[in-house]
Amino acid sequence: MSLVDLPPSKGGPVLPGDVRAFLREAEQRIEQFQAAGHVPGFVPSDFERVYSVLHDLAAEELTPGKLFCEWGSGFGVVACLAAMLDFDACGIEIDGTLVAEARQLADDFDLPVQFVRCSFIPNSAEPGDAYGWLSIDENDTHDELGLAPDDFDIIFAYPWPDEERLTEDLFERYARAGAVLVTYHGGDEFQLRRKKGRGSRRR
Ligand SMILES: C[S@@+](CC[C@H](N)C(=O)[O-])C[C@H]1O[C@@H](n2cnc3c(N)ncnc32)[C@H](O)[C@@H]1O
Repeated sequence: MSLVDLPPSKGGPVLPGDVRAFLREAEQRIEQFQAAGHVPGFVPSDFERVYSVLHDLAAEELTPGKLFCEWGSGFGVVACLAAMLDFDACGIEIDGTLVAEARQLADDFDLPVQFVRCSFIPNSAEPGDAYGWLSIDENDTHDELGLAPDDFDIIFAYPWPDEERLTEDLFERYARAGAVLVTYHGGDEFQLRRKKGRGSRRR
């Protein structure tokens, strides 16, 4: 195991007004989207809690740099929150309707976040690897982003319970040394882990 646990978040600050306004709008759009029953595999995180965790990681400079990626970005809210905390953020999402919603939301709030419609599983993953129903990247995700999985300093994911192990394995195998994996598991449960090794770069 090359991952070490980081201390849990202390709880973050009171939400700034611009973040509150952004989340109000995002949550309204998500409610309408879900009422139309578009993508059953999409379940949003608790965004206020995620903001607190990302805020603490940024404030305490616990990531080696500022490159952030949301694996399975859904509506893109977490990647947008990361951009509001000055991370250079992008999101990878398999469902095209969600990518369109995420791009619109980021545009409407002038947030510089790139979303690509692809799988976050690199196409270099071995065909025999047990990645369940998760699709392997068929679109050269990382070419489209101009970034490789080991460029990122911080990855966020909200995996379904049966994908937790796969998410961890992918991170362990492909992320750079020093990168941080933040996973949300429902309620107030998060895991914060760092990949061991040299990786102290901070941009
Ligand atoms: C539980 S939702 C979380 C959405 C978002 N990250 C959030 O926290 O609000 C998981 C998302 O991952 C997407 N997804 C599942 N497998 C994927 C894959 N291989 N590559 C990219 N996205 C994927 C789903 O379409 C869904 O939007």
